[in-house]
Amino acid sequence: MKYLVTSATGDLAGRAVKHLKNFVPVSDIVVTVRSEEKAKAFRDQGLEVRIADFLDKPSLVEAFQGINRVLFVSSNDLATRKQQHQNVVEALKEAGVEYVVYMSAPNAQNSTLVVAPDHKFTEQLIMESGMDYGFARNNWYLENEVFMLKAVKNGAPLTYSAGDGRVCYALKEDYAEAAARILAGVAPKQSIYELGGEPITYEQLAQIAERALGREVKTNPVSDEEFVNTLVELGLPKEAAQFSVIVQKDIRNGLLDVPSDDLEKVLGRKPAPFDEFIRSI
Ligand SMILES: NC(=O)c1ccc[n+]([C@@H]2O[C@H](COP(=O)([O-])OP(=O)(O)OC[C@H]3O[C@@H](n4cnc5c(N)ncnc54)[C@H](OP(=O)(O)O)[C@@H]3O)[C@@H](O)[C@H]2O)c1
Repeated sequence: MKYLVTSATGDLAGRAVKHLKNFVPVSDIVVTVRSEEKAKAFRDQGLEVRIADFLDKPSLVEAFQGINRVLFVSSNDLATRKQQHQNVVEALKEAGVEYVVYMSAPNAQNSTLVVAPDHKFTEQLIMESGMDYGFARNNWYLENEVFMLKAVKNGAPLTYSAGDGRVCYALKEDYAEAAARILAGVAPKQSIYELGGEPITYEQLAQIAERALGREVKTNPVSDEEFVNTLVELGLPKEAAQFSVIVQKDIRNGLLDVPSDDLEKVLGRKPAPFDEFIRSI
């Protein structure tokens, strides 16, 4: 049985490869990267590396030859993502891959979340392809809050405009382990996994930060406009601040409030608490 992880240079994919080694022989793991220079680090770990770019379909068809199961980590290039993902799905099918784990977004088929359309599109292509699949619908990475949590560590209040909206945060390491378990077949078999932790508000995130840091953390609920201004004042580029406020609106509208115990079931344990991560920022 051959397992392949796409774009292993990515943070989540790299962590998934590390976990996969605990479940299947290293000699059964293949990874793709975009260039020879990026291949070396993985070859040094004893992994088979194939060069493939999501924008180059023939490279993908070749890379997927002889592979049974693939972890397809979504691309971070939002401008061309739909085309990239279409290439990947068509190549998986042409190469005869039996099973794909696709890293998707919460409630992707019905959500108006800012990032959902590409994931809905990709899930649909996979469903239509006839391949067996598992959609690992990751909720929000706690790591997405690093900028604000750093400011909090420096004494700023936790500022947000998402109101009482709740987010099912989990750490990247847990999402990566879950993806590896699903790929290796050491998780309950489902076609859709809604992966995330307990839903929490920003008020509750502040309480968690307070406990982790051992000191008071004030909250600062503001309007969307004030939220953008605060981020820019703290040093975030305007474009990133404007994307963050779209996410704040989505959170306020409940789009990341997708509670599920799938992550706990896949990991066979509770998702990791956040204290250590917050202290390490
Ligand atoms: N749920 C959430 O909170 C959340 C937050 C952020 C992102 N995401 C999604 O989760 C994915 C994984 O997150 P991450 O933190 O691991 O992202 P990341 O570290 O930025 O990794 C993204 C990967 O996409 C690869 N890539 C970009 N264009 C490509 C192409 N044309 N062909 C092949 N590979 C290409 C990159 O390859 P190179 O190294 O060669 O550039 C990189 O390996 C992201 O890509 C995004 O879709 C989810």
